[in-house]
Amino acid sequence: MTIKRLGVLTGGGDCPGLNPVIRAVVRRAHQAGITVVGIRNGWKGLIHGDTVPMDLNSVSGILPKGGTILGTSRTNPYKKPEDVKKVLDHLKKLQLDVLIPVGGDDTLGVATKLVQEGVKLVGIPKTIDNDLSATDFTFGFDTAVNIAMEAIDRLHTTAESHHRIMVAEVMGRHAGWIATYAGIAGGADVILIPETLIDLDEVCGIIKQRHARGKDFSIVVVAEGAQFKSGAEVTREQKLDEFGHVRLGGIGDVLGKQIEERTGFETRVTVLGHIQRGGSPTAFDRVLGTRFGVKAVELVLDGTFGVMVSLQGNQITAVPIEQGTGRLKTVDQDLYRIGKIFFG
Ligand code: F6P
Repeated sequence: MTIKRLGVLTGGGDCPGLNPVIRAVVRRAHQAGITVVGIRNGWKGLIHGDTVPMDLNSVSGILPKGGTILGTSRTNPYKKPEDVKKVLDHLKKLQLDVLIPVGGDDTLGVATKLVQEGVKLVGIPKTIDNDLSATDFTFGFDTAVNIAMEAIDRLHTTAESHHRIMVAEVMGRHAGWIATYAGIAGGADVILIPETLIDLDEVCGIIKQRHARGKDFSIVVVAEGAQFKSGAEVTREQKLDEFGHVRLGGIGDVLGKQIEERTGFETRVTVLGHIQRGGSPTAFDRVLGTRFGVKAVELVLDGTFGVMVSLQGNQITAVPIEQGTGRLKTVDQDLYRIGKIFFG
């Protein structure tokens, strides 16, 4: 089958590296004589037929830019059967021979279902959380880690000058990759992740021990998805997004209060939030995004569909798309053990 027209969309949370992906898809497709149609705002754009023509000029200058020039949304077409029909109808109407959806678990979960409906597609994994199981890394993660590391470095100087405990809340819904990497890179005294329940006695014990040896400041890094073993709870908004996720954020404040109450040491909290997801991608993320985009088009040219591109070691390969979603990649326990050596 000759591929003449290809659609590209970005779904879920934005992520540094999405624009390098879009640029690579358009450039490689152009080289092969394929027309690229940009779909606006993820699956929402396919429900409504909201598209934009993509040529070499539309991707010129976007490599260093954060976010996504196509826009994004957390729209789930499988919430309403009529929306799935609209997606399939628009794919036909727009004469798209193949689709390249770029997204995380949710976006690629929808893609997996569409493959079962007969849609030809090649997925590209994306998440700053780095928790997709079938790829060693996702782009956006390295940028987020570097931003968080720099924040920890800055918090260190204030912590030391004021003899305070500084809590840094970073992203990480189900897995604590950002907290672990940024915590190790930034020399955190405690790193708390969703994979292990927070033991407040242990955390406060570490901080007190540091004081006892003359270190009257501490840096605690906590992933927003972490949970307490007992002794504290985070009140969350009950509203869920279309994929059933609750809005996170707030654990840092609860943790900070508990530490101050239990240790008596002044404790301040910084929530990094979306600062980690915004702005220019690092060189690593630009290169990874570019390699993913090029590989996705080359798989299309080879007639390989129903797959997701993946980084394994230093090779970009393809895995069946259903392997890319549904199973979480949690933090490597040996890596966390290395972080723990520096606790206290
Ligand atoms: O999945 C990436 C992520 O940044 C998570 O770490 C975070 O919980 C979530 O997205 C936040 O999403 P939103 O920007 O839609 O609130």
